[in-house]
Amino acid sequence: MEKFIDEISAEIKAAFSALGYNPDLGKVTVSNRPDLCEYQCNGAMAGAKEYRKAPLAIAEEVAAKLKDSQIFAEVNVAPPGFLNLKLKSSFICDYLKQMIKAPKFGLKQPEKPLKVVIDYGGANVAKALHIGHLRTAIIGESVKRIVRYSGHEAIGDVHLGDWGLHMGLIITELNERKPELVYFDAEYDGVYPEEAPFTIDELGEIYPTASARSKIDEAYREKALQATFELQSGRRGYRALFGHIMRISLRDLKKIYRSLNVDFDLWKGESDVHDLIAPMIEGFKRDGFAYCSNGALIIDIKKETDTKEMPPGLIVKSDGAYLYLTTDLATVLDRMENIAPDMIIYLTDKRQSMHFEQLFRCVKKTGLAPPEVDFYFVGFGTMNGADGKPFKTRDGGTMRLEELVALINEEMYQKIIANREVSETKARETAQVVGLAALKYGDLSNQAAKDYIFDIDRFTSFEGDTGPYILYTIVRIKSILAKYAEAGGIVSMEALKATDDLEGEKTGAKALMLNIAGFNAMLEAAYTEIAPHRVTAYIYELANALNTFYHQTKILTEPVNEKQKSYLALLALTKEILETCIDLLGFSAPERM
Ligand code: ARG
Repeated sequence: MEKFIDEISAEIKAAFSALGYNPDLGKVTVSNRPDLCEYQCNGAMAGAKEYRKAPLAIAEEVAAKLKDSQIFAEVNVAPPGFLNLKLKSSFICDYLKQMIKAPKFGLKQPEKPLKVVIDYGGANVAKALHIGHLRTAIIGESVKRIVRYSGHEAIGDVHLGDWGLHMGLIITELNERKPELVYFDAEYDGVYPEEAPFTIDELGEIYPTASARSKIDEAYREKALQATFELQSGRRGYRALFGHIMRISLRDLKKIYRSLNVDFDLWKGESDVHDLIAPMIEGFKRDGFAYCSNGALIIDIKKETDTKEMPPGLIVKSDGAYLYLTTDLATVLDRMENIAPDMIIYLTDKRQSMHFEQLFRCVKKTGLAPPEVDFYFVGFGTMNGADGKPFKTRDGGTMRLEELVALINEEMYQKIIANREVSETKARETAQVVGLAALKYGDLSNQAAKDYIFDIDRFTSFEGDTGPYILYTIVRIKSILAKYAEAGGIVSMEALKATDDLEGEKTGAKALMLNIAGFNAMLEAAYTEIAPHRVTAYIYELANALNTFYHQTKILTEPVNEKQKSYLALLALTKEILETCIDLLGFSAPERM
């Protein structure tokens, strides 16, 4: 289906063209004076110079041409040459009926779907997830869903941090505590135990202890570096321990991600590409891309057009260690060989933007990916506390992800029990669903690149631009539809009628229908701009339009059957659109709140 706004533009363009003007002048935009009109066209002003005519005269001509249009109820000319447009409600209603019948409400699907890898989550194995990991999970999940809904193949990869010094630190600390374990016996060549020598709780405590000690104990740090190196070089006992660490942490990670309604198609990590690194580097050297500088191996990526400093990509450190950039390059290689994507989107804190700029340049320079493959970096800002500084626990420590989720769920729970009589279990259950919406909406409704303030009071409020408000609106519709069904009513989308036929202008129904008609254009923008906040902004307006309609209209008590049926169809359609959108944002609505 064409987008609603394009259909309107087409009509105006035809009028400009029929009068001998450039049809491009007929471009239409949503009105910025909703009190005057619904859409507007500024083409007469734009064309005045070219055609040496007063804009007002051009506008008058176009308006006259459009007098019998099937689309417009009113075309008004306002100085100095605006065309103010009001649509016929029958036109809107017909469009909505087409949307209802079409798959995905008529969103145009690509002729040739792209294969898109979304690299998000980025949890570091055996380290606690912190708030930085929350944003990549929330935004990445939504981007993946938007890409998919837009008709492309989206492959989400968590890209675990599982191959760095933190692994060496854990092995070293374990060695201190239980040196008798068979994993540390270099001579041992038997089979290793199936049971891990630690629990998830121990593991959770081992890493911070080891990390803290490595900062004050140089010898200990050396040991950890050595252990990391031996692990990466394939020492059997260490690889076996690594397997235990991975199994135990993954179980835990999957649980957390599931609770956030985030799921990955691939659970790959840095360790998976280890074996690709040495031959890749050989190739870089052979082809003259990488060279030695002060004992390190680097790739030059400066361009003449650079206005800011662009340090070379560091591939191997002077002590022989690989870096973050090295594993990311090998990961591109792996993805090209095994997935062959058309696009890769990475989501991390924007402080990593230099890293990704370097990565993309190295990739293009070395030809790891063909030039037509697109690489995008979505860097997001920090989640701050009320003081404008990165969000912390009450005693100033970094907050763990689970603590944050628990915090918002508790707040939601309190609000729910204050609101109505409900059993403890039911209230907790609902609090989880609504809490997740509060958290995700609070995050996604900001432009990703901006910092934002985690304001628990505002996020959990049932009013305003919040997740709970959207859910409340959906629950409101559900409850009306349920009451209608209980009384034996059956909602049919066929019953949707143009508001003029129902004398319904005053009900807000027309405005609501106009909002719905904008769904495709919104989604297309959310996809091309990789911008979930487009979806939140849209549903906030849609929910407002729905609530205005609800407050101004008798629905269940409406005596005229035809009207009632049309209103119910409109409610049902709004609910479907809202539910589709919140699914794209990665949360869902409860039955009651
Ligand atoms: N593990 C990294 C971190 O916690 C994020 C990984 C992002 N993805 C990537 N391909 N580098 O900062």
